[in-house]
Amino acid sequence: MALVTTKDMFAKAYAGKYAIGAFNVNNMEIVQAITEAALEEKSPVILQVSAGARKYAKPTYLTKLVEAAMLDTGLDMALHLDHGGAGLNPDQAFEEIKSCVDGGFSSVMIDGSHYSLAENIELTKRCVEYAHARGVVVEAELGKLSGIEDAVNVAEEDAQFTDPNEVEEFVTKTGVDSLAIAIGTSHGAFKFKPGQEPRLRFDILEDIQRRLPNFPIVLHGASSVMQDWVVKVNNNGGKMPDAIGIPEDMLRQAAAMAVCKINIDSDLRLVMTGSIREYFNMKPDHFDPRQYLTYARANVKELVKHKIRNVLGSSNRI
Ligand code: G3H
Ligand code: 13P
Ligand code: ZN
Repeated sequence: MALVTTKDMFAKAYAGKYAIGAFNVNNMEIVQAITEAALEEKSPVILQVSAGARKYAKPTYLTKLVEAAMLDTGLDMALHLDHGGAGLNPDQAFEEIKSCVDGGFSSVMIDGSHYSLAENIELTKRCVEYAHARGVVVEAELGKLSGIEDAVNVAEEDAQFTDPNEVEEFVTKTGVDSLAIAIGTSHGAFKFKPGQEPRLRFDILEDIQRRLPNFPIVLHGASSVMQDWVVKVNNNGGKMPDAIGIPEDMLRQAAAMAVCKINIDSDLRLVMTGSIREYFNMKPDHFDPRQYLTYARANVKELVKHKIRNVLGSSNRI
């Protein structure tokens, strides 16, 4: 077992018309839930770490937790930096990428989506050169995910989506290994307004897929925000009215196309939080964290198994 890049995973996922789950990790219970689910489902898996996760848990704890999960399960895994460079200037962004490449990650994302095309290309290329020289793969992003649900008119909405006319130039000039695109997904648990029909721009995905044959595409903001868990949160003292995610059938459709990596974080948070809220109500006399975290971890594991089996289609691929 070893830390691996996503290269092989993506080639197989593309050919097999399925996707690899990229799950955000922040603590031991989440790492265990995801990796035990992957083991039981015989599925490849990507564990990804955001800047927020690194700040919360400290980078060393996260890399060592992933190392422990590999030892425990015997699985190969990819360790990926999620949204590298977000909120930083280009030099700081490069330093963050460098620190993760040097710190043992097998894959990094440089998120230059808020820059102009030329600036995004320049920053991404710089990161690709550094990472590739050290055997690390790079994901980049074109298009803007956040705020799509707030777009007031079609022209504005279109400006947020990835422009298919830019993808060939971007991939050729940067040498990047995979590309995150904006087709209507967004981060967090409130992706659409109540009453708004969830919609993804499969026409844009199709166009990109035609222009970049066999090239792995990444979908961020792909949590489904399962309604039974929203109800569980709200029935146990939480306040998440109108939390809405991406319907599972849309994710399955994307996974059968060029989308090889599907990012999931909010669903893990939802199940973790819903479980703990429910546990506290069920057992008000318990105060040992191992009791409620055992319950939450088991539910997160079931969620990940469900995703692997019924959404990503990555069961029995190793
Ligand atoms: O895309 C963002 C992920 O959900 C990570 O969120 O930055 O709060 O760790 P975070
Ligand atoms: P969600 O908020 O939909 O889980 O998306 C997570 C993500 O894209 C992490 O990069
Ligand atoms: Zn993301």
